[in-house]
Amino acid sequence: MKAQPYRETLPASWFYDPDQYRRELRAIWYREWLCLGREEDWPATGDFQRVDIGDEQIIVTRAGDGALHAFHNTCRHRGSALCEAQSGTFSNGRIVCPYHAWTYALTGELERAPRTTERDGVRLEDFSLYRVALDSWRGFVFVNLAAEPRSSLQEALAEESGHVAAWPLEELRRVHRETQRLACNWKIFWENYLECYHCPGVHPDLCRLVPIYRTGFMDYADAGQEPDPQRPHAMLRPGAVTWSTDGGTDLPWFDGLGKEDAERGMTFATWAPTMFLVAHVDYVRTVRVLPLGTEQTELIVDWYVHRDLLDHPALDVKRLVAFGSQVVTEDARVCELNQKGIRCARHQRGVLLEVEDYVHGFEQWVRQRLGE
Ligand code: FES
Ligand SMILES: [Fe+2]
Repeated sequence: MKAQPYRETLPASWFYDPDQYRRELRAIWYREWLCLGREEDWPATGDFQRVDIGDEQIIVTRAGDGALHAFHNTCRHRGSALCEAQSGTFSNGRIVCPYHAWTYALTGELERAPRTTERDGVRLEDFSLYRVALDSWRGFVFVNLAAEPRSSLQEALAEESGHVAAWPLEELRRVHRETQRLACNWKIFWENYLECYHCPGVHPDLCRLVPIYRTGFMDYADAGQEPDPQRPHAMLRPGAVTWSTDGGTDLPWFDGLGKEDAERGMTFATWAPTMFLVAHVDYVRTVRVLPLGTEQTELIVDWYVHRDLLDHPALDVKRLVAFGSQVVTEDARVCELNQKGIRCARHQRGVLLEVEDYVHGFEQWVRQRLGE
C-alpha cells in the first residue's frame, strides 16, 4: 500500500534563527493588536507601565483627560529612552527625558525643549512623542504598533469574543498574577497550546477533569465521539463545575450565564499571538504572551473574579489558582524541552498528525502573515 504523504512543520530553524524572529516581529508582533493589561492597571493620572515587545518598548500612561495613551519609549530629540522603570507615576503630569530634559505632556505633545533658540528651527508641535494606537475591549487594553493598523480592535477580536459574551468581563478584578519567562520561541508556546496530543502524558490531572482530552483531541466533534446526551455541552467530568483541583467551587457563579455556558464548564477565546482567555462559572483566567527574544517568551497569567466577590468569605485565592497554575507549569516544562531539542542540526522539520490540525492552521497563519 502506498503511504500517504505526511504533513511537515515549519522549518526547525524558524524556532531559533534570530533573523527569522525579526521577520516575525515585523510581520506579526508589530502589526497585530496586543493586550497589555486592564483599564484598572492605570488607576490615576500619570500612572504608567512600560512594556517590552520584541525590540520595541512602549509606555502606556493615563492622561489628565482620563484616557490612556501609548507611545514608543523614545525621546524625539536624540532618541534616549524616556523611562527605565517598569511602572510608576510621572510626577507633575509631565514626561521628562532624563538626558536633556525635553518635556512632554501625558498626551505626548512636546511642551518644552530647554535652551532652544530660533536658530535651531525646532517647532514644539513637530516633535510629539511617537504615538502608538491604543483601544480597549471590555476592560482589556490593547495596543497596535502599526502606523496604520489593518483592522480596528473590535474587528480583530470579533470572531472569538462572542464565545464569552455572557461573562461580565468589564466587572472583573484581578486576584492573582503569575509571570513566567520561558526559554522557548513564542511559536513553541502557541503550538503547544493548540494541541492536546500531549495532554494524556503531560497533564494527567487535567485529563481526569476534562475526559475528552484523554483522546488527544480538544472536543467531541474532532475526536469523532458523541457527548453525553444528558449533558451535550459538558466538557468537565460529571460533578465538576470549574477548573479546580477537585472540580468544585465555593464561590457564587457569574450572573447571566446561559445553560450551555454553565454546562460546558470551560469556555475559551483565543487571540494569537497575544492572549487567550478561559471563562468558568466562577472565575476567568487570561494568559498573555510577549516575545522577549528568539528563544525567550514571557507569560503573564492572571486570575479574575467579579469585583463584588473581592471580600467574599468563600474567596480562597490559593484554591482558585492551584489547578490552572499546575497546568501552566506542566506546559512550560514541555515548551522548554521542545526548544532544547529542536536545535539539532539533523532535525530540519518535524511532522504534524491529524490530531495537530490546529497547529497546522497556526503555521499556515504564520506563513500567510509573512507573505509566503
Ligand atoms: S535625548 Fe531626550 S532630551 Fe535629549
Ligand atoms: Fe498543555
